[in-house]
Amino acid sequence: MKQIIAVCFVLAIVASGVYTLTGTVCSRTATRVHVSRYCKFWFLGCWSWGTHRYWSYSRVEYCCRGYRSNRGRCDPHCPRGCGGVGTCVAPSVCNCGQTHTGQHCGKPQCSYRFPCYPGICSLPDHCECADSFGKPRGESKKCNEITKRPSVMIANASLEYYDNDRQDIIYSVTVVAPDNGTNTLTWWSNIGKFNRFDIAMEAFLDLGELPHRPEYVRSDKFGIMSAHIDYTITKASHSVPNATERVICQTANQEPESGVVNCAKHVPFFGYRLDNGDVFTMRFEVASGGYMRLSDGSRTNFVGRTGAKEIRMKFDFIPPYHCRDDNTCGTVHEKPPLQVVNDITRVTYFLL
Ligand SMILES: *[C@@H]1O[C@H](CO)[C@@H](O)[C@H](O)[C@H]1NC(C)=O
Ligand SMILES: *[C@@H]1O[C@H](CO)[C@@H](O)[C@H](O)[C@H]1NC(C)=O
Ligand SMILES: *[C@@H]1O[C@H](CO)[C@@H](O)[C@H](O)[C@H]1NC(C)=O
Repeated sequence: MKQIIAVCFVLAIVASGVYTLTGTVCSRTATRVHVSRYCKFWFLGCWSWGTHRYWSYSRVEYCCRGYRSNRGRCDPHCPRGCGGVGTCVAPSVCNCGQTHTGQHCGKPQCSYRFPCYPGICSLPDHCECADSFGKPRGESKKCNEITKRPSVMIANASLEYYDNDRQDIIYSVTVVAPDNGTNTLTWWSNIGKFNRFDIAMEAFLDLGELPHRPEYVRSDKFGIMSAHIDYTITKASHSVPNATERVICQTANQEPESGVVNCAKHVPFFGYRLDNGDVFTMRFEVASGGYMRLSDGSRTNFVGRTGAKEIRMKFDFIPPYHCRDDNTCGTVHEKPPLQVVNDITRVTYFLL
């Protein structure tokens, strides 16, 4: 009787015939060599052993070189990654999209994430801001600041005393801020009784020609973002409270206005009493600003600069004293203290 002791073991797996199935999945034929022992001569035990060999074949699929298995699929593998922003599209090849560039997507480039507008971008991300625009502090690329301030071209006010019975202006004082770069004008007046008030301003902002809008900027608007006139009465007497009012010409939540902004307001009931030593300050303030909308739908607001002019009317009702060479002083009624060619109050209109 021939008893086969099948001691079966795999001697070797021989790879042969590697071929590609789909470009990403490769397969090979694995050949297994099986060896088993049997007894050639038996007499109360086995005296001689023989071996049987046989081969089995199977096909093994695996991810080709440059690909990695991922949830049952073979995905291309980029061993150094794609910077967390790109996708690996082929072995060691990243598609970095619009925001980054470089072999491993390590370099940002001008895009909706790193907008260079209004400016000129030299790829990948060097940004030269247009005139009137600049980079906010700590920012090396974006031009999100308007560096040009609007000019207040006209800033004037008329304080009037209006007689309701006579339906007539009894007198008025007009103050005009000079248009010569002097931003604060101080004006003295020896009359303080007013009941009406007109105020006007004209501001202008020219941001120059903007560079071509890149594709990632959907829309933009820059100009005068806010305009207002604050008038304050600073009382000389500490027992009377100061007062501040604001005339709003344009609010910051409106669309910015390019070019000229005009603002004129009539205050029909000016109910403040002006006493000796009081200061009536008018501050005309205009700020530049704007926004752009990017291709991802986000909105970037631009910080601007403020242009202002101020007119200060000071009230002095105490007649001056005139001191002569002989060290005696008299009132203005005896002899005028000053001899001036022009009136001190420039456009004063008296009809008392
Ligand atoms: C302010 O100046 C403008 C232009 O010079 C003038 O038209 C306007 O009447 C003035 N307004 C007041 C309140 O004086
Ligand atoms: C500007 O004009 C005002 C009033 O007309 C004058 O007092 C001032 O000196 C001028 N300033 C300059 C810098 O010319
Ligand atoms: C009014 O304003 C002036 C100047 O800002 C200040 O010194 C003064 O204390 C104020 N007066 C009152 C009553 O608040």
